[in-house]
Amino acid sequence: MRFDYDAVIVGAGGAGLYAALEASGAGKTAVITKLYPQRSHTGAAQGGISAALGNVEEDSPEWHAFDTVKGGDYLVDQNAAIILAEEAVRAVFDLENRGLPFSRTPEGKIDQRRFGGHTRDFGAAAVRRSCYAADRTGHMILQTLYQQCIKNDVAFHDEWQVVDVVMDGTLLTGLVVFELSTGELHLVSAKAVLFATGGFGRMFKVTSNAMANTGDGPALLSRAGVPLMDMEFFQFHPTGIRTMGILITEGVRGEGGILLNRDGYRFMEKYAPTMMDLAPRDMVSRAIMTEIAEGKGIKGDRKIDDWVHLDASHLGRETVEAKIPDIADFCRTYLGVDPAVEPMPVQPTAHYAMGGIPTDLDGRVTDGKRTWDGLYAAGECACVSVHGANRLGTNSLVELIVFGRRAGNTIAKYVGTATSVNPGRAGDDKIKAWKDRIIGLKKGGAHSGKTYEAMQETMMANVGVYRNEGAMQNAVDDIAGLRDSYTEIGVQDQDSNYNTEVLSILELENLLDLSLHTSAAALARTESRGAHSREDYPDRDDKNWLKHSLSNIVGGKVILDSKPVDVSRWEPKPRVY
Ligand code: FUM
Repeated sequence: MRFDYDAVIVGAGGAGLYAALEASGAGKTAVITKLYPQRSHTGAAQGGISAALGNVEEDSPEWHAFDTVKGGDYLVDQNAAIILAEEAVRAVFDLENRGLPFSRTPEGKIDQRRFGGHTRDFGAAAVRRSCYAADRTGHMILQTLYQQCIKNDVAFHDEWQVVDVVMDGTLLTGLVVFELSTGELHLVSAKAVLFATGGFGRMFKVTSNAMANTGDGPALLSRAGVPLMDMEFFQFHPTGIRTMGILITEGVRGEGGILLNRDGYRFMEKYAPTMMDLAPRDMVSRAIMTEIAEGKGIKGDRKIDDWVHLDASHLGRETVEAKIPDIADFCRTYLGVDPAVEPMPVQPTAHYAMGGIPTDLDGRVTDGKRTWDGLYAAGECACVSVHGANRLGTNSLVELIVFGRRAGNTIAKYVGTATSVNPGRAGDDKIKAWKDRIIGLKKGGAHSGKTYEAMQETMMANVGVYRNEGAMQNAVDDIAGLRDSYTEIGVQDQDSNYNTEVLSILELENLLDLSLHTSAAALARTESRGAHSREDYPDRDDKNWLKHSLSNIVGGKVILDSKPVDVSRWEPKPRVY
């Protein structure tokens, strides 16, 4: 079938829903999502949304912007960080006005808690900056925005997977969509399309990311010739549930939880004397891996699957149940551990992609040299770049709202003046090619599971918290081999309705492409910065590497270019916490 809209938003997380809300004021707007909107991964963000409200302690947007720049190891575009911090305050009040049930102080103000790397007075001490709704902040944002979108007549196409774009030069004219419930392919055209498809943590074996986080937007735009930015920077959150990777919010440490090694020693004293357990995530993850490598993990066998303890038992049951109820429930359900009385076993878990589709401050896709008409991105799949080499906790939810809103506004203005474009023959050709491809997959072939597992194993072992040349070269070679053998994969399930096997094979292709971007860009960056920590190049090298990377895959190989970093406000300095 054919569908025509003014604006189409791909993805129904926080950024997508906010952009849809803004765009819906200017024209016929639809959200295409491969899930039901309330199941989007924004719902898994637990601990909070940062904004310098100063409700419980003195705070300022300037301190917030500075912390964001320093936390990102100075690879952050400083003009973007200043916008993030300044507009964060309005974003939180806006969510409150739209009905989000924030946790409150006794006086009835929005309560705020500490999170890693957020400080007062340019690093003097931790500050309470993260506004929260218990440990369900992302879930509450999703519910609030979805209800607002329904109220504003946004159309929803649930369980539709965008598989391709139709381009006329740098103008996007259409989307090819696979409808999961019927197996049909549709052509959707719009004056403006925004990608907000979230992250791609599923490329790693241990991850906090949901099964759906397969980087569909960046992967298919990369195949259409859009370079991806800063793909080497992937954040490991220090506290995932051992082996499973499920997130244990940093809010636990914000409320006073502490990390302990097998000797019961609070080891962060050694690595970050001022901020301790609330140092930025890259530092805490490295500290945990160092303790493990020195035999001070809980098992003590020095293997990377060892873990440490996160202890919140001294907070008491009342605080645990009030402030981190979902975490307590996860631990009891999955581990048989009650955090009110015993420590939680945790290890770093692949959590967040700092890199993605390059955009300007208003969500337009651009690599600095070219701008793609009618094409926008926001949220985790985009790189604006406010996180640089390492994102601070709770800066992602605020990024979704601030930059989702800015992109939605820009789209609203654009659709008012742009004329509709017809994908024409190119669209029909793409639909035919995709029908043929799916028929081809159904002729059978190797099961995709082995390839999926091999990708996750090599990325985890070789492109994890600590990296070195030999390991990353292994990952690049492994992923290149897996991409070559991908063509032998086929589906066993011959049904048209709800053929999730077809869907997962298409998602696997996306993850393989993004794994190649990530491993090759990481191999090329011969320095350590933020989450990219190399044993063979342990120092930050501003002289040669204070620049964003841009990567394209051409003929199976990654071609790299660069883009300057905006350092207009603060001079890069060594990071001390
Ligand atoms: O730890 C957390 O609650 C995660 C928040 C975030 O990634 O911003």
